[in-house]
Amino acid sequence: MNHSILQGKRGIIFGALDEQSIAWEVALAAKKAGAIFTLTNAPVAIRMGDIKSLAVICQCELISADATSLEDLKNLLEKSTEVLGGPIDFVLHAVGMSPNVRKKRVYTNLDYSYFEKTLDISALSFHKFLQTAWQMNALSPQASVIALTYIAAQKVFPGYGDMADAKASLESIARNFGYYYGKKNGTRINTISQSPTFTTAGKGIDGFQKFYDYAENISPLGNASASSCADFCVMMFSDYTKMITMQNLYHDGGFSQTGMNLDMLPNE
Ligand code: NAI
Repeated sequence: MNHSILQGKRGIIFGALDEQSIAWEVALAAKKAGAIFTLTNAPVAIRMGDIKSLAVICQCELISADATSLEDLKNLLEKSTEVLGGPIDFVLHAVGMSPNVRKKRVYTNLDYSYFEKTLDISALSFHKFLQTAWQMNALSPQASVIALTYIAAQKVFPGYGDMADAKASLESIARNFGYYYGKKNGTRINTISQSPTFTTAGKGIDGFQKFYDYAENISPLGNASASSCADFCVMMFSDYTKMITMQNLYHDGGFSQTGMNLDMLPNE
């Protein structure tokens, strides 16, 4: 991989909590590719997680923001453009949380105030960020914005609970805002649909290990790792992908297109 394809680019990376986080790998890969960026996470994640050490490794500013708060998002954009010295060229939205999933409330027995929180944190936060940046003109022409999603937005994965509805909404927001931003200044907005990955968010899904093994076995290439997802994000942030927008891009080792894997059939 060409290690300087993000030279001169300014970014914001949401969602690095600890070394397992996909966003953690994206930060390391973006740094290697020559980018400068700010890191952000919710105040509680900054207190409890390891993100401060990532900020030291990446020599970057860490800005606290609850992704559901318009005020925090405005402050994040103001501070980021200030410390980075100009408008933002790339963004990673790697934010997700479902109180229903956390509290083992299954899809047929959801708590609706939790459901609203799931949608607010995991989907509306993306709209709030994009709308705030729109009003502030904070994204540079031909910026690239990526949000991480999961195939439960298209197909049923029992156990993924209300996150499936949040991801469907997230992908729709990417498509719709992609239209408006494309017309406005060429900014492209896409979602990357990632394989199951062992992270705090991933492990919160009931039966995650079985889920992970199933996908690993059926996908011709096996599951995509967090670090390969990071490489893909770097490419998507780069100028090599200027004409890709409003897409949901599967980064899943072929899982989404595989109907049957012969290795998984019982022996005769
Ligand atoms: P993670 O648990 O490391 O990251 C989730 C992040 O969301 C955490 O850093 C957390 O602090 C942040 N967050 C939660 N509430 C927030 C709020 N109110 N404001 C700001 N940040 C908040 O787990 P992972 O897996 O790296 O998750 C990143 C993204 O990737 C999520 O959108 C997740 O749904 C998605 N994804 C994960 C997969 C997996 O199997 N781990 C598969 C496909 C997509």
